[in-house]
Amino acid sequence: MSEKKALITGANRGLGFETARELGKKGYTIFLVCRDGQSGSEATEKLKSEGINAELYLADVTQVESVRELERKILSRTDSVDVLINNAGVIFESNDFTHPEHSSALRVDRALLMRSLETNTLGPYQLIQMIVPFMTKKGGRIVNVSSGMGQLSEMGGSWPGYRISKTALNALTRIFSEELKPQNIKVNSVCPGWVRTDMGGPNATRSLQEGASGIVWAATLDDSGPTGGFFRDGQPIDW
Ligand SMILES: NC(=O)c1ccc[n+]([C@@H]2O[C@H](COP(=O)([O-])OP(=O)(O)OC[C@H]3O[C@@H](n4cnc5c(N)ncnc54)[C@H](OP(=O)(O)O)[C@@H]3O)[C@@H](O)[C@H]2O)c1
Repeated sequence: MSEKKALITGANRGLGFETARELGKKGYTIFLVCRDGQSGSEATEKLKSEGINAELYLADVTQVESVRELERKILSRTDSVDVLINNAGVIFESNDFTHPEHSSALRVDRALLMRSLETNTLGPYQLIQMIVPFMTKKGGRIVNVSSGMGQLSEMGGSWPGYRISKTALNALTRIFSEELKPQNIKVNSVCPGWVRTDMGGPNATRSLQEGASGIVWAATLDDSGPTGGFFRDGQPIDW
């Protein structure tokens, strides 16, 4: 059996790290993409100590040249990658979800919207463009880690930067899933639910394992699985 490889952004902590661990336990070699060398090394060593094949690549998804350098490093390692998890994400507004008024759209300035888009939408966009040539031989799976806060059907007030950037990420899922169907590359959005991470905070209702399981599901779909959908716990949800 040939080596299966999964590239995961923001894999040094939170859902990215847990997804790396779960896919690693399934036998995938994990390419951890992290912007911070120290925590990236620690995460990589932790996975290795659990018997997982893990390799660290440093990149900041908001920096075009940094992602190009990542591409060059991956190319010097391999010509095929099976899975891309666009997990790295930020909420630049307050993550105090009990106080929406702190993140009112009337207060948030456009610079914050731009920064949100750089990380949550444009980074994933460049990563997808980067990874497709690595998937053309065998097909592949791309998972955009999105959020219920980006659902138009449930759209509420406040957190405009986070919400808009995740809605736009979902648009990328639709656009790329159509273009990549002929190559057997499946592209799906996944909402992990409200998970206890630095972003989700201690009051979140779900464990890391519960949050990561839906991401792993979308990363390991077989050829009969869906593409171009939005899922939570493996079940379709509205856009
Ligand atoms: N937790 C939730 O309840 C929840 C709910 C819905 C969706 N999500 C989504 O799930 C994903 C993971 O979130 P999380 O809860 O695990 O958050 P987290 O614990 O705050 O982790 C975020 C990760 O993204 C990385 N990152 C941020 N900006 C980056 C950049 N420019 N380049 C590279 N890496 C970058 C961080 O790296 P550093 O350590 O260097 O900062 C960190 O590894 C996000 O896309 C988030 O929107 C989370």
